[in-house]
Amino acid sequence: MNVEKVSRADELNSILDAVYRIGLRYRDGALADYIPELAKAEPEHFGIAVATAQGRIYAVGDIEVEFTIQSVSKAFAYCLAVEQIGREQVLRRVGVEPSGDAFNAIEFDPGTNRPYNPMVNAGAITVAGILHERFGADAFDFLMERFSRAAGRRLGFDEKVYRSEAQTGHRNRAIAHLLLAGGIIPAAVDAIVDLYFRQCSILVTAADLARMGATLASMGENPMTDEQVFDLQAVRDTQAVMLSCGMYDYSGNWIFDVGIPAKSGVGGGIVGVVNRQLGIGTYSPRLDRKGNSVRGVAAITLLSEELGLHAFDCTNVGSALLGSFLS
Ligand code: DON
Repeated sequence: MNVEKVSRADELNSILDAVYRIGLRYRDGALADYIPELAKAEPEHFGIAVATAQGRIYAVGDIEVEFTIQSVSKAFAYCLAVEQIGREQVLRRVGVEPSGDAFNAIEFDPGTNRPYNPMVNAGAITVAGILHERFGADAFDFLMERFSRAAGRRLGFDEKVYRSEAQTGHRNRAIAHLLLAGGIIPAAVDAIVDLYFRQCSILVTAADLARMGATLASMGENPMTDEQVFDLQAVRDTQAVMLSCGMYDYSGNWIFDVGIPAKSGVGGGIVGVVNRQLGIGTYSPRLDRKGNSVRGVAAITLLSEELGLHAFDCTNVGSALLGSFLS
């Protein structure tokens, strides 16, 4: 990251420092190892970044460390699928109902065969199917291009993590075949799963996630580059599904305690979106049993409390405080 571009607002920075110091005390959780390459992450890495709708970024810790985006990609891929074929067509193939089950659960809506939502693997593979149907072999480049524009820089790709997942991702292949059997995705199962594995292996930093979140928060326009990256209606739908389903079977607690649309990934990243205000990106690879970053959950929970970011916080003292940073 270009350090000169990092603005310093003492108050927000001292809140971030305090949240970072508290987050460091969390030493529980474990690295994801079901994709062998993910187990090589440095467990102590921890970074928090906040990017405002005014184009400033505030950050602390390991915000330049790259890691694979994993399931955080599901939110942005969903946004692009809605943009490309429209919400009704997407809704025919994937619902918007929290499943209350693990991200890799093998379950579908019994009435329609649809996956419950686009934030669990079955739903995300369906979204990959939609994008593959539309763009064929160019689908990954399309995703990479848009993700990069949302981050404001050309993102990289982790070939080793991709290969590691491609070699071990049998459960996702099984899910994809069941989706094909249910008439939800087209026959190109191998190419669709490959697209899903590839999108999960895009490399980001906590600062990238903050900027990508800020792009969603700013009605799809990247506030650092002023470029329209995502469709407005799709941004609304994406934030709604992130709020209800983004933290898997922790989503109910998350809405209750934190109240910020968010999406986590087993690479250790979390993106949070405070509509019209800011994006939050965190990185710490030790995960809880539900697959969410322990320090990331702690950090965003604390930031929400300290800055009053909860969507239904009636007093919203923090938003008023935050206003002084945004003007
Ligand atoms: O489908 C998988 O196993 C991964 N590539 C992504 C899963 C993931 O990040 C779930 N997140 N908590």
